[in-house]
Amino acid sequence: MWQIYTLTCLIIAVNGCDIPPRMWCDSLETAKQCQVVEQCAKSVWKVNEVSPEPVKLTLYMESLCPDCKNFIKEQLFPVWAQLSNIIDLELVPYGNAMERKKGDMWEFDCQHGKEECIGNLIETCAIHISNNVTRWFPFIHCIEIAEDLPKASAIRCAQMYKIDYSAVQKCMASDKGNLLEHQMALKTNALSPPHKYVPWVTLNGVHTESMEKEAESNLLKLVCDTYKGPTPKACSQLEDLESLSRCYRD
Ligand SMILES: *[C@@H]1O[C@H](CO)[C@@H](O)[C@H](O)[C@H]1NC(C)=O
Repeated sequence: MWQIYTLTCLIIAVNGCDIPPRMWCDSLETAKQCQVVEQCAKSVWKVNEVSPEPVKLTLYMESLCPDCKNFIKEQLFPVWAQLSNIIDLELVPYGNAMERKKGDMWEFDCQHGKEECIGNLIETCAIHISNNVTRWFPFIHCIEIAEDLPKASAIRCAQMYKIDYSAVQKCMASDKGNLLEHQMALKTNALSPPHKYVPWVTLNGVHTESMEKEAESNLLKLVCDTYKGPTPKACSQLEDLESLSRCYRD
């Protein structure tokens, strides 16, 4: 009885599938009719595939701070170069600066003087203009590892990384550029807890002292540990390295 029932259903199902294969997965109904629900779910609807969120990494910094330069050079840039597809990077060049409103414009006082304010503004404008981390981060890295002042290195770095420097300069001299830098101030001042130093890192919006220490000493591991998605190659290599650096007993 049961066998006959199953067989009948199967025949009805197969007969019921007079839909061209390309339309089988158009709806749950069509997929049911053609008995391909599981296949559609897996390969077309991708129901089991949660797309993992990238790690949101924000660096609060200022252009001439030696520790920021060092952090970008030793940790952030090399790690981003390996893991850019799982890092959603944001840079906030303002740091320990202060601002006040004068007329319609904002005036900035930077910890390392006027040249630092210029550097912050160059970086802020470049981020805004290129609007593509793959372009602006190598440019900013180039400025931050340079020995000379941002206003000089930026020209060289812009050529190297195809940043439209005349657009950057235009931005720097405009109300828009002034407002963009003010937004960096607002972002920095909105930190909770407030920053005590720079570089100041947040991961997915969170800052703790221990996390900051790890960011400054082993950012690769920190990002790998924070990421919930499938292990990227650079992270699995890290695990190999860790096991190699231990002396196991026999
Ligand atoms: C960002 O810039 C890179 C490097 O120039 C380029 O390959 C990529 O297509 C750009 N991405 C977008 C979304 O424009």
